Amino acid sequence: MVSPILPGPGILLLGRYSRSINNSGNCFPVFDSAITHARIIIVFTKLSPDFPEYDDKTRDIWDRLAGWWDDKIGDGNSFQDYLIEPATERLLALKAGEKVLDIGCGAGRFARRMAALGAIVTAFDQAEKFLVRARKRTTENAERIEYLKLNATDAAAVLSLGERCFDAVVCTMVLMDMSSITPLISSLPRLLSQDGRFVFSVLHPAFNSGTARNVAEHYQQDGRLVTRSSVTVSDYTKPFAFKGIGIRGQPEPQYYFHRSISLLFNACFRYGFVLDGIEEPVFPEDFTGRSDNPLSFDRMPLVPPVLVARMVLR
Ligand SMILES: C[S@@+](CC[C@H](N)C(=O)[O-])C[C@H]1O[C@@H](n2cnc3c(N)ncnc32)[C@H](O)[C@@H]1O
Repeated sequence: MVSPILPGPGILLLGRYSRSINNSGNCFPVFDSAITHARIIIVFTKLSPDFPEYDDKTRDIWDRLAGWWDDKIGDGNSFQDYLIEPATERLLALKAGEKVLDIGCGAGRFARRMAALGAIVTAFDQAEKFLVRARKRTTENAERIEYLKLNATDAAAVLSLGERCFDAVVCTMVLMDMSSITPLISSLPRLLSQDGRFVFSVLHPAFNSGTARNVAEHYQQDGRLVTRSSVTVSDYTKPFAFKGIGIRGQPEPQYYFHRSISLLFNACFRYGFVLDGIEEPVFPEDFTGRSDNPLSFDRMPLVPPVLVARMVLR
């Protein structure tokens, strides 16, 4: 392929370049200059979805948060009730008797919901304290749910679950909490049956991640005082790790990993997945549980705080 490449300010080289991808999926364009016949290798800025340096730091936080988190939302909150679970269920379209893997199951709320729909569920989490809560809360359909302790950033551990043994894999509100996602996503094609699906939800990468800021403006319009709620975004394209609060009042912050939509989906496309369904659920305009807080997403019926996607294998 003949292509102009600018290796530095004001210098234009015409030549051929090809792309090679190393083991970690990073792209290294290899440039052969037609002018100098010298071989120049340019390493593009790395945009990796993975932050392995945070693997250890993130591990224990969820175990410390588990009790508080489960006390707070074990019975569900408005995000789960109105946005995440209905969209996930629609995209999953479960049939009774199907085998499902629930990754990062927390206290098992969605695992139990799937078992109630007739699925046979293997649910795992890395936080032992969440699993203790999950087992305690499982009073019905217990014969259809198995809870395991497993770290989703460990590909060998994920692959030990077996080859081609799940009709569906679900991962609700976990990927943005995981330091490394490539070990998991690269393993899923081997776990899923031929026509299996992978449904995940995340905080919306564009509107509810990283430096996105919720803004409320009060102003006069046609003789009325109006409140307008919105989101402003500054740093979107670059992936980064940050500490944040998932639920107001939580005893310590957790790590989040901001990944743009293209970074997130390309991590799936690279391992043979294609996007087959997507939802960006919002709270309806007449939402009855609407809060008084103008910064809340339930006051923004046109801004989706979560993104839910279904991936299938090509
Ligand atoms: C926000 S909670 C979501 C829990 C549950 N899926 C839900 O929708 O209620 C994130 C969960 O991901 C789990 N998690 C984070 N990183 C993980 C990892 N590397 N392996 C397994 N679980 C992980 C946490 O322990 C926590 O239970």
